Amino acid sequence: MDKLNISAQHARVLSGMRPTGRLHLGHYHGVLKNWVDLQHEYDCYFFVADWHALTTHYEDPSIIPNSIWDMVIDWLAAGVNHGEAKLFIQSQIPEHAEFHLLLSMITPLGWLERVPSYKDQQEKLKEKDLATYGFLGYPLLQAADILMYKAGLVPVGEDQVAHVELTREVARRFNHIYGREQNFEELSIHAMKKMGKKNAKLYYRYRKGYQEQGDLVSLEAAQALLESQQNLTVNDRERLFGYLEGSGRIILPEPQPLLTKASKMPGLDGQKMSKSYNNTIALREEPEVIEKALRTMPTDTNRVRRIDPGDPARCPVWQFHEVYSGEDVKQWVQNGCKSASIGCIECKQPVIDAVLQELKPIQERARDFEEQPELVRTIIAEGCEEARDMAQETMNEVRAAMSLNLR
Ligand code: TRP
Ligand code: SF4
Repeated sequence: MDKLNISAQHARVLSGMRPTGRLHLGHYHGVLKNWVDLQHEYDCYFFVADWHALTTHYEDPSIIPNSIWDMVIDWLAAGVNHGEAKLFIQSQIPEHAEFHLLLSMITPLGWLERVPSYKDQQEKLKEKDLATYGFLGYPLLQAADILMYKAGLVPVGEDQVAHVELTREVARRFNHIYGREQNFEELSIHAMKKMGKKNAKLYYRYRKGYQEQGDLVSLEAAQALLESQQNLTVNDRERLFGYLEGSGRIILPEPQPLLTKASKMPGLDGQKMSKSYNNTIALREEPEVIEKALRTMPTDTNRVRRIDPGDPARCPVWQFHEVYSGEDVKQWVQNGCKSASIGCIECKQPVIDAVLQELKPIQERARDFEEQPELVRTIIAEGCEEARDMAQETMNEVRAAMSLNLR
């Protein structure tokens, strides 16, 4: 997609990650590589969701600060670039908390109770007492994170799509309640004229087509027209989007989830790579340790002796080949395993080489950043600065819409 031809909202991407400490290959293949690609194409905001971590780790928050810096170093080491994306920490932008509070006023309890992760996580994390106000409200905190930056796209995994859906509902409700202006019609017509005679006429015709005949093609054409307008202010554009549908001004645009495909990266035991399964390869793990872990990982249990044939379909090592090996190596594995012409150690070697090669530049960059903690602090401070500017702008609009701009 062309960065220049899409509206500001559609070009903005926001995503957050809980600070879980050092990241592993599952994070790299599942999330970070995707972020690295997105940052070239969109205006990206990536942040450390440390308040989100508190919703489940409130009893022992002392590990969170180190986890934050470890995670940020891994982001940078993986190629997430502070020159391209804005990197910040949620708790350093207190506007998120204010926004969360204000959104809580209009959010029906049922909407939060219905979010699947609410019950699921309580079931899964039985050892924790998650019957808290903060835990119930955490998808709404996420909505505040997203709406604060008026993001158009939110890269998330399957488990988080419901949160983006909630965000859309909250935005819609907010716009419905607070998007009404006294002289909305008048302001909209005034804004329309700023597009020039020809475009104003076109817009008006599309609007009529949509409002009188429910013609969706007209709706989309009008939206595209608005997005291509260069000389409209943000407020006027939002007004005209709202006027199009007859509702009112759109203060908080609705985001779309950008579904991140589940990572194919298996853990050392063939299950999904995850800290809780103790089967991870950390990005900053020593090469010798990685090599040993791969050498000793389990294989097809039918291959008891070297001469016993096996089946890659029953072997976790094969899943690593699926991620790391080309067609020729994969053929060699298939044939060699089934005919017992290769041994398992031999079979693992290309995987070991590929993992170490992939991690080498990442580990070098990580070492650079480890040696310059002040640089990492500065990168984040600058990202926070930029995020704060945007957050303050949104909060000014939100406060005004909710009659909170006291003088
Ligand atoms: N809730 C997300 C998680 O647990 C992290 C997160 C917080 C997030 N705020 C966000 C993701 C906003 C995307 C957008 O993984
Ligand atoms: Fe697994 Fe390779 Fe051994 Fe076959 S030869 S069992 S694919 S490690």
